[in-house]
Order: sequence, then C-alpha cells, then structure tokens
Amino acid sequence: MLPVIGAVRPWADPSQTAIRRMPALARGSAASRYSLDGLWRFRLFERPEDVPEAALLGATDGAEWSTIGVPGVWTQTGVDDLPHYTNIVMPFAGPPPALPERNPTGVYRRILDAPARRTDDRAVLSIGGAFSVHAVYINGRFAGYGTDARLASEYDVTELLIDGANDIAIVVVRHSAHSYIEDQDAWWQAGLHRSITLSVGPAVSIADVRVDADWDPDAYRGTLAVRAVVAGEPVPGATSVRVTLTGHGLDVGTDRIEVDGAHTDTYRFRDFDASAAFGDLAVEPWSAESPVLYDCRVELFDAAGAALDVVNVRVGFRRVEIVGPDLLVNGRRVWIHGVNRHDHHPDRGAAVSVGDLRADLVQMRRHNITAIRTAHYPNRPEFLDLCDELGFYVVAEANIESHAYNWHLCDRPEYRQAWVERVARMVERDRNHPSVIMWSLGNESGYGANHDAAAGWLRRADLSRPLHYEDAIRTQGWLDGGRHATDVVCPMYPSIPEVAEYGRAVAEKRADRPFIMCEYSHAMGNANGSLADYWDVIHAWPGLQGGFIWEWKDHGLRHPKAPDGRLHYGGMFGESPHDANFIADGLVSSDLVPHPAMAEVAWVYRPVATRVADGDRLVIENRRAFRGLDDLRARWALIVDDALTEGELDVPEVPPGQSTAVPLPVAVPTDRFAVLTVTWETCADSWFAKAGHLMAADQHVVDGPPGADARGGSVTDVPGVLSGPEPQVWRGAIDNDGFKLMLDRAAAEPLGSQWLLRWLKQGLHSTPASELIDHRRVASPTIERHTFVVPERLDGLPRIGVRYEIAPRFTRMRWLGRGPGENYADRNRGSMIGIWESDIDRLPYLVPQEYGLRTDVRWVELHDPRTGDRIRIEAAAAPFSFSAIRHTAEQLFSVEHASDLLEHPSLVLSIDAAHRGVGNGACGSDTLADHEIRAGVHELSYRITAHTTSNSVYRQDRSAAL
Ligand code: GAL
Repeated sequence: MLPVIGAVRPWADPSQTAIRRMPALARGSAASRYSLDGLWRFRLFERPEDVPEAALLGATDGAEWSTIGVPGVWTQTGVDDLPHYTNIVMPFAGPPPALPERNPTGVYRRILDAPARRTDDRAVLSIGGAFSVHAVYINGRFAGYGTDARLASEYDVTELLIDGANDIAIVVVRHSAHSYIEDQDAWWQAGLHRSITLSVGPAVSIADVRVDADWDPDAYRGTLAVRAVVAGEPVPGATSVRVTLTGHGLDVGTDRIEVDGAHTDTYRFRDFDASAAFGDLAVEPWSAESPVLYDCRVELFDAAGAALDVVNVRVGFRRVEIVGPDLLVNGRRVWIHGVNRHDHHPDRGAAVSVGDLRADLVQMRRHNITAIRTAHYPNRPEFLDLCDELGFYVVAEANIESHAYNWHLCDRPEYRQAWVERVARMVERDRNHPSVIMWSLGNESGYGANHDAAAGWLRRADLSRPLHYEDAIRTQGWLDGGRHATDVVCPMYPSIPEVAEYGRAVAEKRADRPFIMCEYSHAMGNANGSLADYWDVIHAWPGLQGGFIWEWKDHGLRHPKAPDGRLHYGGMFGESPHDANFIADGLVSSDLVPHPAMAEVAWVYRPVATRVADGDRLVIENRRAFRGLDDLRARWALIVDDALTEGELDVPEVPPGQSTAVPLPVAVPTDRFAVLTVTWETCADSWFAKAGHLMAADQHVVDGPPGADARGGSVTDVPGVLSGPEPQVWRGAIDNDGFKLMLDRAAAEPLGSQWLLRWLKQGLHSTPASELIDHRRVASPTIERHTFVVPERLDGLPRIGVRYEIAPRFTRMRWLGRGPGENYADRNRGSMIGIWESDIDRLPYLVPQEYGLRTDVRWVELHDPRTGDRIRIEAAAAPFSFSAIRHTAEQLFSVEHASDLLEHPSLVLSIDAAHRGVGNGACGSDTLADHEIRAGVHELSYRITAHTTSNSVYRQDRSAAL
C-alpha cells in the first residue's frame, strides 16, 4: 500500500485536489534548475492498491522493471496498457466517483544526486503534468499528491532530500475521481507527459510576479504595474526589490523598493511584497499583428545589496475590453480568425515538444490563423511564450470537462474545489501573457454553482480580461443568459441563420455581447462546407467577430509496437467503448500536412480582400486592425479565354480597417469569359514563410459560356480511355454524409448526418446508376450529351455525372477551373480559377472517402508525360466538376482505413454535372440547400478528344499557366 495516502485513497476522492502542493505562481529564476527528464525505471501495476512500499525504494533491476522516457506517456510505449478514445462517454462505468477494477498505475523511479545546497536553500520538485493524478515519494517518504493533468504540481522537498543519492518515485494513477472532469474528446493516455525539474535556491526568493501592462489607445501610452511577492519570510527592512523595464529603446526602472511585510502591524500585512508602477510610457502596443514585447526584470536583494533572485517577464502592453457588442484590443475591433488546438503528436501523444508547438504555429500562420482556443486545457507553459512572441490571440481554457455527467458535477459540492482550483491555478500561471485575451471556464460541463464559484474568484483576481464559457449561454440563452460566467456569446456549431439572427439582435439592440463561436466548421474528413458563407454573415452584421474552427489537427496515433506505422483512430487499439474516427477531425493531418480545406481557411481569414466595383475600380480592403499592407506585394493576372496577361499592382496606403479604391490595372472584357485575379504575397522572409508566400487572393469573374471548339470531331474511340462513360450517382461517402464506421449508432442516436443511411437504403452504393435514374446519352460527332432524370424519391443525391476508366499511364492533369487543390461547391471560394497543373491526387484523409474534386471546370487534360499523349475534355454548355483519382467511389466507401486502400488498376475520371457540397453534417448544419442535388433533369455536355505529340487530333493547347 502506498505510504501515507494508501489508506486514504485520494485518487478516489474528488474533493482531494492536492496534498502539500505549492501554489502555481511565476517563480523566481535564480534557483538552479535540474532537469529530471530522460530515462526513468518503470513498473506497471494493475491498481494503485497493488503498489507495495517496496516498489518506491531500492532495487529496480528486476525483470518486472523496464526503462521509460520522461516526458512521455506509457500508453505509447507498448506496455500492456494502451490509449483509449472516447468523445463523450467515460472509458469506464460510473457514476462518479466510481473507478474501474483495473486502474493501471505506473511507478517511475530514478536516482538523483542531490545538488550542493546551502543551509537556507529550498528545493522544489515540479511535476509538469501527469495523467491523471500522481503522488511523489523521496527516499520512500511521501512528498505530495496532485491532480489536474494539464498543470504543473510543485512540492517543497527541502526536508526530504539528503546529500548524495536520492531515490525518487512518482506514482501515476491512470483513472481517478478527477478523470470525470477531464472527459475531453481526446485520447485517454497515461503517464508523466510533461517535464520534471528540481530547483534549488535561496528560501528567500521571488514567489510570484504579477505584471499588469495596459495600453491606452487614446493617449498612445502604456502603464505597467508590477507586484512581487517574496517567499521565505524575509526580515522586514532587510530585503528589497528593483524593477526595470527595457526594450525598443526604453530603459526605465525603480530604485530599490523595500519589501513590505511588517507582521506586527495589524491590518497592514498583505504579504511580503513590493509594488512598482510606471505611468505614461512611450511604448508600442502588443497585438497579434505586431507582437511587441518588452523585458521586465524584477530583482531581489538582501540587506547587503547582494542579489538573491531574479524574474524576467516578457511584457506586452495591450488593453482588452468589451465596449458595446465588440471585443476590442487596444481600442479596435479585431477579427477572431481562430482554431481550436489540442496538444497532439502521432508518436508522442500529448507529450508534445516545444518544437511541435512551434511547428503548429508556423503552419497556422501560413494559413492566416491568428487566434487559438487552447481546447480544452492549459498547454505546456512554453506555448503561451510562443504566442506572445509570434502574435496569436488566445482563449486560455481551464482543464474542466465533465461531458458524460454534464448537468451533474457542476453542482456537486465535492467537485467545487476542483473547479475553482483548476481555473485559479491556470490564471495564476498564465496571467502575465499578453496573448491571453480571454479566460475560459472549461468545456461542456453544464452550468452550475461550481462555475459561478470559479467565475467569482476570477472576476476578483483578474479584471483585465473577459470570461468565456459556452454552456452558460447554451443553457441560459444567447441574448441575456449566463452573464456571470461569460462576457461573450460563444456558442458551438450554430447554423448560419442563427448567427445572422444574433447579428440582427445586436443591430436591434436586443443583444449586447460580442459573438465569438467557440467551435464552428467541423473539419472531420472532407469537410468545412460553407465556411465562406459564415464569414459573409460575420462581415455583414454588428457584434459578430468570428470564431474557432474545430479543430486544428487529426489525432491519429501510431501503435508503439506495430511495425506498419499506421495511424490509429478509436477502436483500433481494441478498446471499448470508443468513437471511431471522430478523433480525426483536423484541418491538418496528424503529421501536420494541411488538408485541402486549409485553402478555404486561409482565404476566409485573409488579411486583405480585393473586389471590382462599378466595373472600373478595384477596392482594396485592409482587414487588419493595426497594420498597413506594406509588408505585402500585390500582383494581378487576367485570363481571357485561355490567354494570360499579368503585372504588378501599385498599392496606395490602405490604413488598417479601411478600404481604398484604385483604377483597374487592366481592362477586363465584359462580353466573354474573363477572370481577373489579384494576389497578395509577403515581401520578405518571416518566421512562418519565405518571401513570396501567398497571403490572399480574390477574383473577378466575367461569366461566358464555355465553348468546346467545334473544329475537328469528337473522338468516340479515344486511345487511353479504357471504359466509360458510365452514369454515376454515388460518392465515397464523406464523414459529413454519415459515419460509416458507426452506422448502427448513427441510426439509433441519431448521430451526425442521416444522408448516408438513407442512400444505403436506396441502394446507391450497390446498384448501377442506370437502374436508379433515367440516363440518356447522345454522342454526336462533335459533342457528348448526357441527360439525367432524377426521380423525386432520390432527391438529394451525392453526385450526378459520368465516370471513365483511363489508362494508368496518364499521371498528370491540367485544367482550367478552380484549384489548385481539391474543392467542392460549398468550399471553393478560396480556390481560384486558373490554369492549373498537378500530379494525380493522393487520398488526404485518414478514413477513405470521396476526394479530389475540382469545380467550375471548363476543360481538363490528362497527360501521359512519357509519351506526351493527352486526353482532353472540354465543357460544351456549362462548366463541370471533375476528379481524376486512383480509387473508385465504391472502394473509398468500403475501406475503413487509408492504409488498407489499394489502387484501382486504372485512373478513375469522374465528370459531374453536379456534386453535392460537403456541408458540416458530422457536427453542425447539413449541406445548404443551394449545394444539394435536386430531383429533376440534369444536363452534362462536353467534348472528349485525344492528342498525341506526333499527330494532334485537336489543336495544341495555347494557354499559359497562371
Ligand atoms: C464539441 C466538443 C469538442 C469536440 C467537438 C466534436 O462538442 O467541445 O471537444 O468533441 O464537439 O468534434
């Protein structure tokens, strides 16, 4: 049994949040820090009750011991305890605080040679993060116990360390009463996933520094208030603090300020502290666009003037406030171009490195993402350092989610302490970060007295930031509900009409809070339909400021022991219950490769938008709040028919938040198909991209009928075409059509979109399209004409068109239409019309599903680069959509994992008269009516011709690449 706490079993008691743990503060840095990261000895037990005292001390060389890396999760090491994925439900039976019979418990052991210490030195051991709770023993003696897997726990171990070798044991219990409030939609993992350090330094030291840096947008001046709290009961009068502020030409400071703390003065004693205030500072403000940081240095001296401790805090001067229905930073409304981000790495799980954090931020900024919700817990501390430095607005969220017991635990008194402490400890750790613009009380935990208790603490402890909590408005109403717990209306997955309705309520003064969606546009598989439609509404109404896309990254995990290296989703570790691939819902793959929807994200979040007005002017709109556009270079390109002209655009100064009109750089014909494109690229190398990185693009399109050139004949027997055209109505169902891996549940609950279930009943996946719809084909010598008549009962088909099988030697494609990446009817505004060329696409999604479509296509060519042969398809009446991929829709639907997908022997060319939009049906609104396929008549006509280098059946293409 574990010494001291074994009989008490704190892991089973929700009211027991910590034993002997120190407050979470911005501690001094004069102490020497020793990293205890690296290899530890490790032994796994079935339950905490099984851990004998002997496992905490002495030999670790028996066969039952192994070696493990810290930080890391043991569930990624191949021991007999694997990751488990659930979304809402708990991985074991409740009700809280019931724990499962098997509760894997790891004992981590290592020897630490105690560093040299002076008699008045203090030693603090910091456990960066443990899933789910942990107890620490030093030389067999109990040092402390801590909960909250996503914040560090620190223990004063001065009395426990001996000179020479010290035996350190950390016992980590996988499931605890606190697991019920860490029920996020993520992998359940286990282990010491963040760093372990020992700090040794003078007992009289800086215990906490709080900086409040404000910036007055009217006066263009900053103020700074600094409060330092000193630990170790300094002798009054004998200890002093000096504060200096430097950077960007500024160098100001205080004299030594005596540390206050006369115990004897009744009522006067606040703490052993010292405060300094700087007013009227000529500083540059911090914002995500210009993340200007200054250095604040707080030094502690003894009576003789010798330095005892020092804390350096990077300071950003900025003001966050809500004025009317607007969230303002430095007096200006900013767009929340956000994503939700979890800590995830496909091999390391939650144990992400600082390099991983930075890589995420680089990839985000390459796609114009400037705001992050730390869904759904505090990240490792370096994350906010990076956000301060690189410029991101952060909603910092407390590690509280009781999703399975949503309406229950938030009112239970035994969980009250955990609620308040999780919020308070996050704030105490993170409040000096300018990047944090709001605090979030957690996610999906109902709304109860425990939330109000946490909000009450927070409203007193930090007046400088608004509060955010979604369930408060979900339960109490958007217009006036939940005000104590949230200052913003932050719903998840509202429909576009609901968003517009809130904007209308603001316009009519029925609502007065900023509207910032905590989650919207669910990125599961081929998804994010209508993202641009959301932003049309956001830009059109007052009070609407943006939101956070769900979510940044897929959470595929590689099995530590499996040689195939394939990424796992729920259930693949043999766990139950599970939620299958609901864990793969990111804008980027588990390995950080952008999914095609990122093009749309980058476009809706672009910093500058350009449009043609009155036929002869170009209106340039600077969507930034603080910066001009002089870091960007603009170019224009005009396609008329297939011919391209291009040039540089002279850009006048466009102040932030304003628009300026310039004459059109080139005359755009109005009587035929023409496309004017304006692109914005970075002028210089930056932390996220090389110079020339595309930041924004817009197009002005003059429509005109595509005209397949009637010269020459249509070739009915095209070399390279192996079969087709066959009518086609099925697509490899996407996640937003329905959950193919959870069909029974989807039907019973009902969960996600119900379209897939309906299509399966209609036999779309198994019946030849010719038996489902009426298809007429007329192949004249010049044109292929297809007429499809969709019966009423099949209203809402996935697609309607034809399919060809093409010889696999055609490995390149070239087209005039939207690109360069995959795009769909409701996710194509960020895909510019151009003459694009690429290899054949690869499946970008973890679970096979339809991919690779290009919309608004006037012609497409498939190339065999070896022979120069080309197959060309030209729209005759209306542009079509096409995909040329190495899988059939049937294959994509029948296979459950990308690694099991075999290539079809031929290239599958689909030409669609219509293709259903992708929508948000997995979690949110279904595909909008405009992008559904209605019953009735659909037409498709085109010409298909073959060309060889030696003997062109048709004219040589004369277009140039955009
Ligand atoms: C929300 C939740 C997220 C995630 C998402 C669906 O309800 O807050 O954590 O589960 O739905 O992917």
